[in-house]
Amino acid sequence: MLNQSSNISVIVGAQWGDEGKGKITDFFAGEADYVVRFHGGNNAGHTVIVNEKTYKLHLIPSGVVYGKPTSIIGNGVVIDPKALLDELDYIKEKGIKPKLMVSDRAHVIMPYHIAFDKALSSHQGQLAAGSTGRGIAPVYADKMFRNGIRIIDLLEPNVFEEKLKKGYSFTKNIIQKALNQDFNIAFDQILHDYLNYGKKLTPYIYDTSIELYNAHTTGKSILFEGAQGISLDVDHGVYPFTTSSNTASGHISTGTGVSFRNINRIIGVVKAYLSRVGESPLPSEIHGENADFLREKGGEYGTTTGRPRRVGWLDLVQVRQAVRVNGLTEIALTKLDVLNNFKQLKVCIAYDINGEKVKEMPASLTQYRQAKPIYKTLSGWEDLPEKIWEKDFESLPDTLKKYVAFIENEVGCSVKIVSVGPQRHETIIR
Ligand code: IMP
Repeated sequence: MLNQSSNISVIVGAQWGDEGKGKITDFFAGEADYVVRFHGGNNAGHTVIVNEKTYKLHLIPSGVVYGKPTSIIGNGVVIDPKALLDELDYIKEKGIKPKLMVSDRAHVIMPYHIAFDKALSSHQGQLAAGSTGRGIAPVYADKMFRNGIRIIDLLEPNVFEEKLKKGYSFTKNIIQKALNQDFNIAFDQILHDYLNYGKKLTPYIYDTSIELYNAHTTGKSILFEGAQGISLDVDHGVYPFTTSSNTASGHISTGTGVSFRNINRIIGVVKAYLSRVGESPLPSEIHGENADFLREKGGEYGTTTGRPRRVGWLDLVQVRQAVRVNGLTEIALTKLDVLNNFKQLKVCIAYDINGEKVKEMPASLTQYRQAKPIYKTLSGWEDLPEKIWEKDFESLPDTLKKYVAFIENEVGCSVKIVSVGPQRHETIIR
């Protein structure tokens, strides 16, 4: 049940990540008092363009590029402290004074997690998701093993050393003995470096759950910024080709300590076509001329790794699941301008799995591997009229409006925000 009177909104990815969440978050962030990340780590990559300046962020919420909001990194996020300090420097170099609070309970990515991530990917072979190599799976695994190190521990040298001894030897043994790979990371170096990171991060460390509770009860506005997308959710996504956190909106409660009961708006960001960086079957993937065109025009290269993204037609089986699982109240449809000048556009409405029409994401890997897209072909549109964002939704080409209406009808959720260019102002609100 959504709380109509609250001031809490959420933005989540409704596909494979890289839907344009950074831009949509930024669009609302200027108004928010708090912008909050609740899961994932610096595997995420958010591109925000404001006043023709481009910002590439991985860990700090996109709202930081504005003066007003306080950025919060919640306890459900995993933090590489070196990456966080580098990102703080990057922001300061751009002339921004970051207002940042980091949860004392967030887990810390250690150098041995990064080494483990690489060793793990080669062990997983065909079943590897094509990780970003940032140590995400091992740090979340250590959290669940209750073997992890939290940000607060970096401020307590004795506890840190005690925990580090256990965590270090555990991962070292797995890498060397179970996975038969080299391990060349020195314990003393980690001890020294991480205590130093802790000192530098001290001014940012808080009990952010209490901060957010107080903010909510005093009527402040809070925006939760999701990373990745629903198909990368470790429970609801295409497992094991997922990330290792819950990307769905439901994780906000545990990932920040803010009750789900208080949320009133959940925006799912859907790109008008599909892209995916990393490995997995991908039923509506396309190759050849159309794929190259989409990749180049849409700038479909990973923000974090620079890898070329695989591209495809919009998959509504995936978006249908995103609407249901996240409880979306609306959709923000992005990058419609990238589709300009296609005579025809295909949209995947269901999968053909062994002759059966399937409209929901299968849990079975066998079935997902066999899934063939069932397409509906819609008419495209030409170049959009100049400065179309200064007009309203009704001024858009009829075929584009039909494309939008078709999506709404198939997935049962309204498209309220239409993005027709990378800049903040290139947006139409319905
Ligand atoms: P990991 O999160 O680095 O473990 O990577 C697991 C899978 O999630 C891989 O397929 C990555 O390419 C994908 N992934 C992780 N973060 C992002 C993101 O921010 N955008 C898109 N894909 C991501």
